[in-house]
Amino acid sequence: MSELQPRSTRCHDILGCSGEGVVRIAYNTRRHREEFQIVSSSTASATSVNRVFNFNAGPSALPLSVLERIREELLDWRGSGMSVMEMSHRSPEFESINAAAETGLRKHLAIPDDYAVIFLQGGGSTQFTLAPMNLCLPGKPVDLLHTGTWTAKALTELKKGIAHRIAATTEPVKFTRVPRKDEISLSPDASYVHLCTNNTIEGTQYHAIPETAEVPIVADMSSDIASRPFDVKKFGLIFAGAQKNLGPSGVTLVIVRKDLAERADKNLPTIFQYRTHIKEKSLYHTPPTFAIYIVGLMTEWIESHGGLAGIQKRNETKAKLLYDTIDSSNGFYHCPVEKDSRSLMNVVFRVAGINGQSAATNPDEASEKEFGKQAAAAGLVGTPGHRSVGGMRVSLYNAVEPAAVEALTSFMRDFQRKRG
Ligand SMILES: Cc1ncc(COP(=O)(O)O)c(C=O)c1O
Repeated sequence: MSELQPRSTRCHDILGCSGEGVVRIAYNTRRHREEFQIVSSSTASATSVNRVFNFNAGPSALPLSVLERIREELLDWRGSGMSVMEMSHRSPEFESINAAAETGLRKHLAIPDDYAVIFLQGGGSTQFTLAPMNLCLPGKPVDLLHTGTWTAKALTELKKGIAHRIAATTEPVKFTRVPRKDEISLSPDASYVHLCTNNTIEGTQYHAIPETAEVPIVADMSSDIASRPFDVKKFGLIFAGAQKNLGPSGVTLVIVRKDLAERADKNLPTIFQYRTHIKEKSLYHTPPTFAIYIVGLMTEWIESHGGLAGIQKRNETKAKLLYDTIDSSNGFYHCPVEKDSRSLMNVVFRVAGINGQSAATNPDEASEKEFGKQAAAAGLVGTPGHRSVGGMRVSLYNAVEPAAVEALTSFMRDFQRKRG
């Protein structure tokens, strides 16, 4: 499969790892000098950059080819004479960008026609409020599957006056897995079931979506949207900030069954009703235009990797390499997550100290700090765990290259050799 190609001829060479593991990527653009004429000399001179291996949890890595395309089109989007950032959101040019992003998502996520695709602002966090505001039916509770920090945030909002039940929780096992089928007790008359498909902080992921009969599922897919094929029809509403798998921060994707969006009271503030954004094709007010443009480019990049089936394969390969490294470390590294619930997106693990004890029973914070420090110095950025849980967390979102995981696992073996 070919990468998303920048529009002009250019080449970039991966020169390989330096002694510290830093990958140097040099760009030799073949742009002609006159192409830069409208740019002042102070802004257009950089032709080489150092790029690290980026394991940040979001915002996170973007594909190099997408960044190159953005750079290429930054000053003059396809002959329009202006940057996407400078375009009116009412212009035909932006309307085509908006439509292309939606079309790309519809194609790759196989979104049926009875679902709307809208681009909002406010991140996944705003959806913890908008979903109940729009989808709750009088006297019918929200059933919540509680699996960690992000469902806790949803719960905090539900507690502000919305009828709800905790239909399952894995808190007693410290969120080291998602609930099993027989642990979920749903109410047949719930307004909807809220769940989080991938728990970014705890490193867990559903590998099968629970059956909820006729009750719609509201899924927080912030950290695994577009990482694997999935059946949109299993969900009533899906939301995700773009900043992990689909682009930069600033735009939140909402996929909602159109009939469910009609549940909302028409007296809700106009801007908080999904139906407003559906009707206006995300152009009710000024949308995050540049971020939507990048989402469109990301769908082209997904295409160039064989769609979501190809992306899934790539993600599985990356995750396997990392989990295998952890599991074969004789306890020097330890992933606390049960195997069936392990996330392909966020791999969490603990590190042992130099005392020969196991990371499972005696994780060593000093060692973990040192791991993060040495990894960063070697160009492997973003490995420390979330501040609330500690340990390490490596995010393997779509744009993280297999080579990045190879470099990381090689670093891990070295780190163990020196200390284990
Ligand atoms: C699973 C999950 N839900 C919700 C959020 C909140 O998203 P945002 O920061 O876009 O509001 C995050 C952010 O990391 C997340 O990982």
